[in-house]
Amino acid sequence: MRISERSKKAPASPIRKLVPFAEEAVKKGKKIYYLNIGQPDIPTPSIYFQYEEKHRPQIVAYTHSAGLLPLREAFTKYYARFDIDVFPDEIIVTNGGSEAVLFAMTVVADPGDEILVLEPFYANYAGFAAQLGINLVPVRTRPEDGYQIPKMGDFLEKISHRTKAIIFSNPCNPTGAVYDEKQLEVIAEVALKRDLFVISDEVYREFTFDGFRAISMMSFSNISDKVIVVDSISKRYSACGARIGTFITKNKDIYQAAMKLAQARLCPAMTSQYGTIGLLTLDDLYYSQMRKEYEMRRDVVYEELQRIDGAVFKKPHGAFYISVKLPIDNSEDFVKFMLTEYEVEGKTTMVAPLSGFYVTPSTGMSEIRIAYVLEREQLRDAVAILTSGLKTYIERRNK
Ligand SMILES: Cc1ncc(COP(=O)(O)O)c(C=O)c1O
Repeated sequence: MRISERSKKAPASPIRKLVPFAEEAVKKGKKIYYLNIGQPDIPTPSIYFQYEEKHRPQIVAYTHSAGLLPLREAFTKYYARFDIDVFPDEIIVTNGGSEAVLFAMTVVADPGDEILVLEPFYANYAGFAAQLGINLVPVRTRPEDGYQIPKMGDFLEKISHRTKAIIFSNPCNPTGAVYDEKQLEVIAEVALKRDLFVISDEVYREFTFDGFRAISMMSFSNISDKVIVVDSISKRYSACGARIGTFITKNKDIYQAAMKLAQARLCPAMTSQYGTIGLLTLDDLYYSQMRKEYEMRRDVVYEELQRIDGAVFKKPHGAFYISVKLPIDNSEDFVKFMLTEYEVEGKTTMVAPLSGFYVTPSTGMSEIRIAYVLEREQLRDAVAILTSGLKTYIERRNK
């Protein structure tokens, strides 16, 4: 008996793999500030539960594989607010944005094919690529310039006859970068020039600050047949466990291919779909309050991080993450140290080491990702503990 090479090669989630150390710390009575995972602390809006209740079925049945039509119609209206012009028959409701990523990769590439990815990237892209036998080819972004999209040449030099697509998230997890039109045009032009699909992961669409705005790849009409948008309600409505996302494309062949995958997994959860119809009735006030709250949290983290000598980072303008290069050479070791050896008054802070967000070997070893998913006072304390822990870590390792 043997297990497959594909599953052996699949990377462990860099976010979850250090959890056993955290569990051990909790057993010993430590309080941990969890800044390692993008699980917001904000309550899911009550309208979600009201709609679930209002539409409570006698039988929790299968739905249409593309999702309930009223839900897809509600999504159409929601997208129109962002000038994203899509119809219900261009949307497949998925089990979270995760399944939309899986569908997108599956329909654009075969085993052995390549997908370019802006690096560092949302770590689960690597897990899905491994599942599918697809090779992710990195196009590097760097902390020194706030992880901006590089020049066209950086993409072109990575393209081979097996390259099928480009994938990235905007606003970006893990860097918090928000790309402007000029930068996105680079991607659109590369796609056009080399006939590639663009998988645009837009799950953090509303999380933009300082007047920045997330531009959808759907708005590049010259490549509309090449674009697949991945979306999710998880972060937007603090509804990660509802498992509702969308796969959107105007390309009929791509849609039909993805529908076969959707039919094979039957449907997304029925009651979550009803709850989501409720969420999509929320007005601008909800989004502006949420944006304000995260912007204030971002400011707290940014301010506290300034106290770290030798840290390299720029103010991120979106999502709820900030990636930082620290004056250390093994951030995973540092995260373990924070969990196993360090505490202030019984408290410590957990962050994500960034190396797992790269496919380039031995890269990101000095970087960490902080998810600012706690309220401000806790965040301030958490980052202060991280800062003092870093000092101690460096002193001990230098001994
Ligand atoms: C960039 C990005 N895409 C997709 C996902 C998947 O989210 P979900 O499957 O919960 O919708 C996440 C979750 O953290 C993410 O950060």
